[in-house]
Amino acid sequence: MLTPGDLKLDETPVPELKDGQALTRVKYLSIDPTMRVWMAGDSYLPAVGIGDVMRAFGFAEVVDSRHPDYKKGDRVTGLTGLQDYAVLDASASKSFQKVPKIPFVSDTVFLGLLGINGLTAFFGMEIAAPKKGETLVVSAAAGATGSIVGQIGKIRGCRVVGISGTDDKCNWLTKELGFDAAINYKHPDWKEKLAAAVPNGIDIDFENVGGEIMNRVLELMNLHGRVTLCGLISGYTKEDPSLASFATVLVKRLRVEGFIILDYVSRFMEAATQLGQWKMFGKIKDRETIVEGLEKAPDAINMLFTGANTGKLIVKV
Ligand SMILES: NC(=O)c1ccc[n+]([C@@H]2O[C@H](COP(=O)([O-])OP(=O)(O)OC[C@H]3O[C@@H](n4cnc5c(N)ncnc54)[C@H](OP(=O)(O)O)[C@@H]3O)[C@@H](O)[C@H]2O)c1
Repeated sequence: MLTPGDLKLDETPVPELKDGQALTRVKYLSIDPTMRVWMAGDSYLPAVGIGDVMRAFGFAEVVDSRHPDYKKGDRVTGLTGLQDYAVLDASASKSFQKVPKIPFVSDTVFLGLLGINGLTAFFGMEIAAPKKGETLVVSAAAGATGSIVGQIGKIRGCRVVGISGTDDKCNWLTKELGFDAAINYKHPDWKEKLAAAVPNGIDIDFENVGGEIMNRVLELMNLHGRVTLCGLISGYTKEDPSLASFATVLVKRLRVEGFIILDYVSRFMEAATQLGQWKMFGKIKDRETIVEGLEKAPDAINMLFTGANTGKLIVKV
């Protein structure tokens, strides 16, 4: 978990723009478990260096521009970092995408359902390749990614079981999002309840957590089941000896496929169009937890690890 002093709030003048740069005012910040991974060391991206601006996705508006492709008023999402203003230049513009102003659609949707989480759910489910009648289990099910994964599973005709950490979240999943069952892993008998919720075994594990939760899900999987290994949040704040579960993967001949959403950049528009249509026709609902104030960002990051968010966690700057 982050402790006070791990991140420091620094005030510096807003930079003067050079040719080829645009200045953006950050309005919303996406708070993602992977931020903790970026603090821990090099992984799929280099670690954030000591003294650097903390890396984060954000939604921002261009307020001044000397960049040929961006004009004042343009709206963008990308790696703004945890800051009030972000400078967009040639190197940064690869990680930024312009987003449209759509009537009745909130800006924050571009960080959740139509942002990294919706896209991760969409492409992760493409890897999972669900078939009608199969059983899908998703962990961190009431989070930004898991809640969309489960709803895509329902659209694809699966029996969908979610795992999450409070009864309220479980009720939201079954009563509002249409999950067939939801299991609170903090109840002492959750392992038996999970088994009872999957009478035909599990065909797809959309894995967001790892550790004890993944071990139990793997035990209940059918032969030749598929594991979409999306995240392992239980190991982001502490050592996790759960690697032993890969023995189960071998014995059951499961196919485990890791992926990183950044591989799919060229197909983001296709996915966002489909997700937007599902939202418009009420097939997908999304929810957000919004924390106000840039200075609250470190507390917000910790909320991901205590489960204090439902749906997409966002900091309003
Ligand atoms: N592969 C990729 O490209 C990619 C992209 C985006 C996200 N991800 C991964 O997807 C997962 C979900 O990310 P998200 O952004 O959608 O976050 P999120 O699910 O909105 O928030 C994290 C949730 O995880 C649950 N959690 C935290 N610690 C846990 C633990 N020790 N055991 C069980 N549950 C725990 C909490 O809910 P409860 O109340 O239910 O505990 C918390 O609300 C993460 O593993 C993340 O790294 C991967």
